[in-house]
Amino acid sequence: MVPLVELGEQAFGCTRCPLAAGRTQVVFGEGDPDAGLMVVGEGPGREEDLQGRPFVGRSGQLLDKLLLEETGLERHQVYIANVVKCRPPNNRDPLPEEIAACRPYLDQQVELIRPVVLLTLGNFATRALLGTSEGITRLRGRTHPWPGGPGPVVAPTFHPAAALRGGGEVVAKMRADFVRARQMLDATRAGSAG
Ligand code: URA
Repeated sequence: MVPLVELGEQAFGCTRCPLAAGRTQVVFGEGDPDAGLMVVGEGPGREEDLQGRPFVGRSGQLLDKLLLEETGLERHQVYIANVVKCRPPNNRDPLPEEIAACRPYLDQQVELIRPVVLLTLGNFATRALLGTSEGITRLRGRTHPWPGGPGPVVAPTFHPAAALRGGGEVVAKMRADFVRARQMLDATRAGSAG
């Protein structure tokens, strides 16, 4: 397997799907390559496309806040990536063929980082990583085993954009999911230390 830095370099030149034509920058992902917690979102928005960094807009501010308040982790202590690495035009949903084209990057990121817990934000990340068509409302609120063998525990929650639209009730549920992710992180580490 290629190192993470080299994988990023491959992604920066990627033309595997039509999203390449409309991007300003590839948003590969960033954070601690040895992180126990990896966060996966949907795809870059306008601000992320301009800066080449994930979750730097309004959703990102909420993500940073919830991470710190509910897990005690700053964003540089986790690894943050998206299902698609290039911005869909006008922030439309990524298409199934775009998700499929980009999937090898995400799979390799998970394999290289080897997180203990994978926090998936919203329907696209959760469905892609759990291999299900079930909706986030039903999937969140508990953790799920990595499909098909050993891998990170998957902790789904709402996308921060949904919380920005939906208000306090959604944020409260997200807080509970972030706490659950932290507990899984601590439990797994305590187990492996003993
Ligand atoms: N929304 C996402 O899903 N990802 C980002 O990087 C920013 C906003």
